[in-house]
Amino acid sequence: EKGTYPYYMLKEIDDQPAVMRRVIQEYTDSMGKAIIDPEIIEKMTASDRIYIVACGTSYNAGWVGKAILEKMTDIPVEVHLSSEFGYNMPLLSEKPFFIFLSQSGETADSRQVLVRTNELDFPSLTLTNMAGSTLSREADYTLLLHAGPEIAVASTKAYTAQIAVLAVLAKAVGDHKGLEASKEFDIAHELSVIAAVMETIIDEKMAISQLVEEYLSETRNAFYIGRGVDYFVSMEASLKLKEISYIQAEGFAAGELKHGTIALIEEGTPVFGVITDKKTAAHTRGNLKEVESRGAHNIVIALASLAKETDQLIIPDVHPLLTPLVSIIPTQLIAYFATLQRGYDVDKPRNLAKSVTVE
Ligand code: M6R
Repeated sequence: EKGTYPYYMLKEIDDQPAVMRRVIQEYTDSMGKAIIDPEIIEKMTASDRIYIVACGTSYNAGWVGKAILEKMTDIPVEVHLSSEFGYNMPLLSEKPFFIFLSQSGETADSRQVLVRTNELDFPSLTLTNMAGSTLSREADYTLLLHAGPEIAVASTKAYTAQIAVLAVLAKAVGDHKGLEASKEFDIAHELSVIAAVMETIIDEKMAISQLVEEYLSETRNAFYIGRGVDYFVSMEASLKLKEISYIQAEGFAAGELKHGTIALIEEGTPVFGVITDKKTAAHTRGNLKEVESRGAHNIVIALASLAKETDQLIIPDVHPLLTPLVSIIPTQLIAYFATLQRGYDVDKPRNLAKSVTVE
């Protein structure tokens, strides 16, 4: 129920701190240890490569999951679009393990890949919000997101829940392998910090609404740029903005701009820079300067330890591998307010369905 909320999307954005706490409750014990079905852990540990297959927002979450899984488990991870993978299957490793990410568990593009991997007898795991869904029933294993019903077409809390559950999974596999990186990764603690930081960002709604009025009220297009996980967040942030506000938005790897896309920058083009990674912060700032000198209006979303006074949105620091869980929140609110201010239906954008059951 959306209760006093004008739209489900806003309620679902607000739900996210509680979802993080539910993930901690469902998947960790009182000592903070990750609790995951040991069979899943064994199958993953025995595999030589993990293939994440998904669509849309779930695909974007997959990229963040790859960064966390590779760091914690030392297993290479590939991320694929279901609609591409099905008909253009890459050469697979000898012992692949498949992870299907799907909020609804009903996405036809993902299902056709699962049917194929089942025929080939490869082990599979579905991360979904829907118990009993098709992808859950047909995969060997399921981990539920416990995000609660997501009604708005634009996915928000499923994205953060997917990343959080993948992080717990990464921790469980890393611990099983006795890896140093995972020993130091106190996932229950880190996710509880994330929940608190999410709350502080959500409290900034009015400031974000004003920023949107200032920078996005006239524009037909916008860009999000970042590197590494900040690029992955840029992909998701731009998908969110375009699917509900109809502003043509693109997420780019900041370093790629100068190889073509910078030609699109005009006087007043809004460019959002996402900066949460110490090793790439200076480079992304350099790219923001380049677009600014061509007329762009920059809006910077930065982690406090990397922020400058002039940055518009400053986010308290969290564990370096989990920054997408917090840097995505202002971008969800940006999409929400841009849509509201343009007078469109936030929860039901044109041409889109909540679950896409055709290929
Ligand atoms: O239910 P799924 O996670 O499989 O759905 C995948 C995409 O259709 C979905 O994420 C879509 O991109 C959303 N509308 C994005 O907000």
